[in-house]
Parts: sequence; C-alpha cells; structure tokens
Amino acid sequence: MFIVFEGIDGSGLTTQSKILGKYLEKRGKKVFLTKEPTENLIGKIIRKILKGQRKLNQETLALLFAADRSMHMDIIKERLKDSFVICDRYYFSNYAYQMLDVEIEYLIQINSRFLKPDLTIFLNVPPEVCKKRIDENREHIEIFETLETLERIKKNYLEIMERFRREGFNIAEIDGNRSIEETHEAVVKCLEKYIK
Ligand code: ADP
Ligand code: TYD
Repeated sequence: MFIVFEGIDGSGLTTQSKILGKYLEKRGKKVFLTKEPTENLIGKIIRKILKGQRKLNQETLALLFAADRSMHMDIIKERLKDSFVICDRYYFSNYAYQMLDVEIEYLIQINSRFLKPDLTIFLNVPPEVCKKRIDENREHIEIFETLETLERIKKNYLEIMERFRREGFNIAEIDGNRSIEETHEAVVKCLEKYIK
C-alpha cells in the first residue's frame, strides 16, 4: 500500500510518518519509510536551493522536484512489491508549492506518469501554528517558511485536494493541530480498513 503524507512545512509530516511506520511494524507489516525531496543526487541539489544557497527560476525548480520523483519512483515501485510505503511528501507538494509561481496544468503534466497513491493524508494545521513550530525547532529557515507563503500554500492545497478528490483520489484530511499522539490516533483510524 502506498501512503503519502502532505501538508505545509511544520505540520508534522515527518513526525507522523515515522510514528505510523513504527505502528505498522509493530503489527508485523513490512514498512518502507521515505521522503521527498530524496537524499539522492537531484534531492541534494534541491536542498541547497531550499536553503537559499543556490538560486534558479521556479519552473526549473519544479522540474527538479519532478526529476527527483522520477528517480524515487523506481525505488517506491520495487518496495511496494512487499511493503507498506510511507512517503513524506509527493506530487501534491509539487502542486501546492510550485503553484505559487508555475501554472498548475504544467505541474500536473510533468507529474502525470507517476504512480497514484492509495491514500494521501493531509495534515491540517494553521500556518501560524506551523510557523511557531518551525521557529522553535529549526536552526535555519527555508525559502517557503514565511507565514505569508505558508498561508498561500495551504490555500493551494485545499484547492487541489478538492479537484483531485473529484477525480477519484483517496485523500483524507486530518486535524493536526493537536498532540502528536492524538493526531497519530486519527491517522490510524483512517487506515483501519486497510490494516487487517
Ligand atoms: P514537517 O515534516 O511537516 O515539516 P515535523 O514533523 O518535522 O514537520 O515537525 C516540525 C516540528 O514540530 C518538530 O520539531 C516536531 O517535533 C514538532 N511537532 C510535530 N507534531 C507536533 C504536534 N502535534 N504538536 C506540537 N509539535 C509538533
Ligand atoms: P521538508 O519536507 O520540510 O524537508 P526537511 O524536513 O528535510 O526540511 O522540505 C521540503 C521542502 O520542499 C518543503 O518546503 C516543501 C518543498 N517541496 C516543494 O516545494 N515541492 C515538492 O515537490 C516537494 C516534494 C517539496
């Protein structure tokens, strides 16, 4: 099963991915935990750009994210043969973030060949709460992590989720503005029907 976590920076994607991974392993499932941008060649270039160490135009950045995903796709497909794959961000991030500067139809086009997740979990957390979490916990702030930008990205997420639900995507929205444990319980509940 291919599970994706999505949300704005600081909404708890990494935290919830890891806890869900442990939860599934405890129940005897084989789990592959992964994230985008990846740690591979293209992912490393992307991280430099996110830290502001390198500048380039937003359309090129969008393509880099898609190229990184293309490499990632081979690994995910292989792992899906015998594991639950939990991915911290996937192409909805490409839409919600790069939509700030690049036309959505183009973004959908460059992601069109990638595997459709079985379930996408959107963690809904107010941008002010996310900003506070980021400021308290990070030594550096990345390019998308200003309050105004997080607000715009959240709006983009809500818009694209509505569109993709209509197109038959399985997208769950979970209130992530509560404790880590409570959020985890809600995540597990939404997976109940898949874990027997
Ligand atoms: P993301 O991967 O979405 O950027 P993280 O999982 O890295 O977010 O979480 C960002 C920070 O917020 C971390 O320091 C994490 O410990 C903290 N955090 C995560 N979930 C919660 C929560 N439910 N309540 C309070 N703090 C949280
Ligand atoms: P993040 O998920 O916070 O990773 P880390 O915890 O390693 O900093 O950072 C990834 C950033 O990249 C985040 O701001 C979202 C952004 N992003 C895009 O803009 N487009 C994409 O396609 C993906 C996968 C991520």
